[in-house]
Amino acid sequence: DGKGAIGESLLKWYDAHARVLPWRISPADRAEGVAPDPYRVWLSEVMLQQTTVAAVRDYFRRFTECWPDVGALAAAEDADVMAEWAGLGYYARARNLLKCARVVAHDLGGTFPGKAAELQRLPGIGPYTAAAIAAIAYDEPVAVVDGNVERVVSRLFAVETPLPGAKPELTALTAQITPQSRPGDFAQAMMDLGATICTPRNPTCGICPLLGECDARHQGIAETLPHKAPK
Ligand code: ADE
Repeated sequence: DGKGAIGESLLKWYDAHARVLPWRISPADRAEGVAPDPYRVWLSEVMLQQTTVAAVRDYFRRFTECWPDVGALAAAEDADVMAEWAGLGYYARARNLLKCARVVAHDLGGTFPGKAAELQRLPGIGPYTAAAIAAIAYDEPVAVVDGNVERVVSRLFAVETPLPGAKPELTALTAQITPQSRPGDFAQAMMDLGATICTPRNPTCGICPLLGECDARHQGIAETLPHKAPK
């Protein structure tokens, strides 16, 4: 159906244009095949659950300076962690973060599980975060669908079903285009595309690496998608 080139086109774009973020492998290290640290991937994904990339950056840097690995975080005083979290909001996340660190450090020998299904059993890790960690840290080829990805996929396939009802359909379509190779980079490339090019109001389709694959663009309806059900 003409969607076969998406994975390759998007990964090529990511190699040239990925946002440089403190929890990501640098472009140079990525080219060398350096693997992401599951602890840093987990910490960043929990922080990013209800908070923007811009707000998370400095918190992530401070946390990893204070507690460079899961053993250090597990041994921290609750009050010190809550103090460093102050300002990020949704404080249940910080309490679950500590609970999860202690389970991983004390019950799992300091190693995060490698599969989304197992990650999801840990405190504070829901289906989305489990998929993101499994794909980014362990290259499990699972669909990672956040708000940005919903928008990109709804446009690629011109999905007219309104959100939130369209979620299962969008997850299935995301799974369909997720490559077996580099699924974590693919997921982060979809997020970056949604954040920088395939934006809600004025998508810059002219510079999009997936221009030729996009049904909504072909139909001239990109900026109208996704539809949202009235509240
Ligand atoms: N939002 C959630 N996870 C992210 C990631 N890994 N990179 C950029 N934005 C994100």
